[in-house]
Amino acid sequence: METWPKDVGILAIELIFPSIYVDQTDLEKYDGVSTGKYTIGLGQSRMGFCSDREDIHSLCLTVVHKLIEKYGIKYSEIGRLEVGTETIVDKSKSVKSVLMSLFEPHGCTDLEGIDTTNACYGGTAALFNAIQWVESSFWDGRYALVVAGDIAVYAKGSARPTGGAGAVAMLIGPNAPIVFDRGLRSTYMKHAYDFYKPDLSSEYPVVDGKLSIQCYLSALDHCYQGYCKKVSKLTQTSQVDINFLDAMLFHSPYCKLVQKSFGRLMLNDFVRCPKDSIPTKYPGLEKYANVKLNETYFDRDIEKIFLGLSKDLFEKKTRESLLLASEVGNMYTASVYSSLVSLLINKPITELAGMRVGLFSYGSGLASTMYSITLSKDITENSKLCKIIDNLTSIKVQLNKRVCITPESFTKILEVRELNNHAAPYTPVGSIEHLFPGTYYLKQVDELHRRSYERVHGVVSNGNI
Ligand code: ACO
Repeated sequence: METWPKDVGILAIELIFPSIYVDQTDLEKYDGVSTGKYTIGLGQSRMGFCSDREDIHSLCLTVVHKLIEKYGIKYSEIGRLEVGTETIVDKSKSVKSVLMSLFEPHGCTDLEGIDTTNACYGGTAALFNAIQWVESSFWDGRYALVVAGDIAVYAKGSARPTGGAGAVAMLIGPNAPIVFDRGLRSTYMKHAYDFYKPDLSSEYPVVDGKLSIQCYLSALDHCYQGYCKKVSKLTQTSQVDINFLDAMLFHSPYCKLVQKSFGRLMLNDFVRCPKDSIPTKYPGLEKYANVKLNETYFDRDIEKIFLGLSKDLFEKKTRESLLLASEVGNMYTASVYSSLVSLLINKPITELAGMRVGLFSYGSGLASTMYSITLSKDITENSKLCKIIDNLTSIKVQLNKRVCITPESFTKILEVRELNNHAAPYTPVGSIEHLFPGTYYLKQVDELHRRSYERVHGVVSNGNI
């Protein structure tokens, strides 16, 4: 390759979520917590979940097949397939190898990439692998496909309302309408036991809720500071702040944490602001001039001040990206990319054109990165950005077509998952009646733990890239 490929980024994106959900208001009543704890306190409206008919293989098969169909891509045009997930059904065999069952019938087996795991960060690591491949000497001119998906379920208790499920697939290549900003990535990784899955026989994590929030906010501080430094260097600007970004997307375990995180970016700007500028830029906050970030994770006064100060900017730069996080819940590896999809389907295209969008990806344990993308300015009728948005119009329709399940049934369905996790042989009992067209579902697990799938027929084909 004589020159780097130009404008490497996202050429196509597809997202799926479960066809059933539980309402968070109903769940508050059922769990006997105070009214508003899940809906206002956590900021969640509904939570998508899967019966024993769906597992990580079926979610990824569904999202890949749908993307290929909608965009009319040939399997042979894909040269790398990366999967990011923390929903592990096999300690050796990758989800990627299961996805090969879509490619093999088309004679395609020359396909690099396997799975990447680190809590909710695996999708971002998979994405970076794909970008690196397209920008390397091993790139053969074909697309890379990145799949991030998870089923987020918690044991009964305070973490349960922060579950969710979903998967996203992103086609990566040059001349894209959503371009990764070169040189603008800032990473923070550390050892922590905030959320982990040491019991390999269970789907449920061990969670230290408070520590996970502290780790998330601390990672955000470090990534944002590093990102601003890189912007400063690249643009030769001394004072970079949140105004450098037109929109800001977050890994979204629950929406309230995202709103607090946005406020925290403004706190970071405040801490980095020269002391003599505080009276003019932040009048009345002089007494906080020496505040230390690592002493403020649970400081209610500071949180309240910066939530208030950042409110308008949050509405402008982040609110619209929380649609899927609020309606479906935490999709773990797919979460931050569900925010990108929400932004694309919620903002008028005239506002999206040319936008610079920041993304913060966090995975417990911990691994985190902040980076940015720039959206194309070309929004003419047949532009690539318009096609991506057109292809996503079904998302809002499908959100409204979902079926509401009572908390009693939700709890029973999770019990069935819990009891039969890793059972073999096993025939799933969950209904397939409400599954969306094009959904793969688990038909059978045989006595050797081999899983077989079927697909619900009928998929809309929207157009080409
Ligand atoms: N009306 C309005 N707000 C209320 C009400 C009410 N009736 N009751 C409680 N609240 C508020 C609380 O004040 C609190 O707000 P605050 O955070 O501003 O103080 C919020 O609702 C949550 O209530 P808590 O009592 O703090 O909730 P709890 O400790 O029971 O659980 C937690 C919350 C820790 C997030 C839990 O759901 C959890 O462990 N989730 C999984 C871990 C997680 O998502 N971590 C985030 C990063 S790591 C990751 O992505 C997995």
